[in-house]
Amino acid sequence: MNHPADVSLLAASPWWRSDPGTSLVIRGGSRLVGTYPISGAKNAVLPLMVSALLTPHLVTLHNVPASLDVAVLSNLLQRLGVGLNWSSNGRTGLSLTLCADQVHPARIDRDLVGRMRASVLLLGAVLARCGEACLPMPGGDAIGLRGIDFHVAGLRAMGAEVDITGGVIHAKAPRGLRGAEVALPLPSVGATENLLLAAVLASGRTVIRNAAREPEIADLVHCLAAMGAQIEGVNSDVLSIAGGRPLIGAVHTVLPDRIELGTVACAVAVTGGEVMLQRARADLLGAAGPALAAAGVVLENVDGGLLARRSSAGITGIDLHTRPYPGFATDLQSPVMAMLATAKGASAVTETIFEQRFRHVDELRKMGANITVHGRTAWVRGVERLTAARVTATDVRAAAALVLAGLGAKGDTILDGLDHLDRGYDRMADKLVACGAVITRSSA
Ligand code: UD1
Repeated sequence: MNHPADVSLLAASPWWRSDPGTSLVIRGGSRLVGTYPISGAKNAVLPLMVSALLTPHLVTLHNVPASLDVAVLSNLLQRLGVGLNWSSNGRTGLSLTLCADQVHPARIDRDLVGRMRASVLLLGAVLARCGEACLPMPGGDAIGLRGIDFHVAGLRAMGAEVDITGGVIHAKAPRGLRGAEVALPLPSVGATENLLLAAVLASGRTVIRNAAREPEIADLVHCLAAMGAQIEGVNSDVLSIAGGRPLIGAVHTVLPDRIELGTVACAVAVTGGEVMLQRARADLLGAAGPALAAAGVVLENVDGGLLARRSSAGITGIDLHTRPYPGFATDLQSPVMAMLATAKGASAVTETIFEQRFRHVDELRKMGANITVHGRTAWVRGVERLTAARVTATDVRAAAALVLAGLGAKGDTILDGLDHLDRGYDRMADKLVACGAVITRSSA
């Protein structure tokens, strides 16, 4: 099953190849009405795919989102020797079966790693499985410093020798990893996942304190538990892992994407209309749930998902701080800001997770938004309506924010930097078009 043709399902779709010259043309003003299927979560599927490296047995994932990050990670895993088999059906969406009966630790591709921050997760899993790993420094969105010091310190505490020279991380654990007590300085999502992946194969008990509590981590814990791992403390900030047991295969359905849910709900609030967000779960939103409600986004629980619409009072300004889960998700900060740009009244949006996550502000200003940034807070004074402009996405979530802004704006917005949208979302533009949005791809 290990040959490139196995990704044909991915390769056949237009979203797979994000031609750098392609832009999105978004005609503002159409109401969104219809059904929008929420895909499997981007931030859940990546660590789940990596977890397959921990066992020689088959791991099958259902509800896999068709995003560029998934394609890049598929490619990386194939180069490591993992067999991939794709299938598709209407009920579970894309399914992926991974077979890591052999893993070749030396074959990690620098260019691919440079495209995606989550490739750092390969470090813990490959090291735990093979006793060594060699990984170029990971890339990803330019939204802040994004160090990997917590990942490295945790693996060192587990007995790994880690050396970073010439932009390459070399890690060795010739006698295997051993359980350790690790206290994270911040509840880092990636470091929690990396250490969790390493800990299930390490001998003895690992305790991760100040662990991140994002729902995507619980999803990974559930999949690892189905593979036979013993992990206590799911959904809490202390994870205790009894490691060292050989893992078996598992079948797991990826959690729905809470960031896509929040983003599309804001889009509906901006355009008006009513959209059924299929498979969406409001309980995953954390503090973003009440914040969206306060801003005028109505989410009604219905059979099979959530019904999204704008409240009769319209969109009103709110103040928010991004925080680790269950706080307001930093990944929703830019889409929500795009919505608040046309709210009644003013909003204060404070970003506490990433230092450079206001790069969408200049783009929103080109569209007529009234936003000023002071330190980590953006002051947003709502205007009547945005106007179309040519804008550029600089990261995954900024791309979604600019799509949202374009849907509400007067005229045709041209969005460049489309690969960012395709990296994080499963055919978002196509799914919006099915709800009445007027969006086309243009190579001009
Ligand atoms: C993950 C998500 C991303 C989300 C972010 C915060 C994935 C693939 N990506 O990113 O969408 O925005 O969580 O919810 O799941 N830090 C360090 N040293 C480290 C690790 C992190 O200083 O070793 C800092 C980061 O620079 C950042 C903060 O900790 O300021 C949080 O980062 P982290 O939670 O690790 O984010 P990611 O896992 O990169």
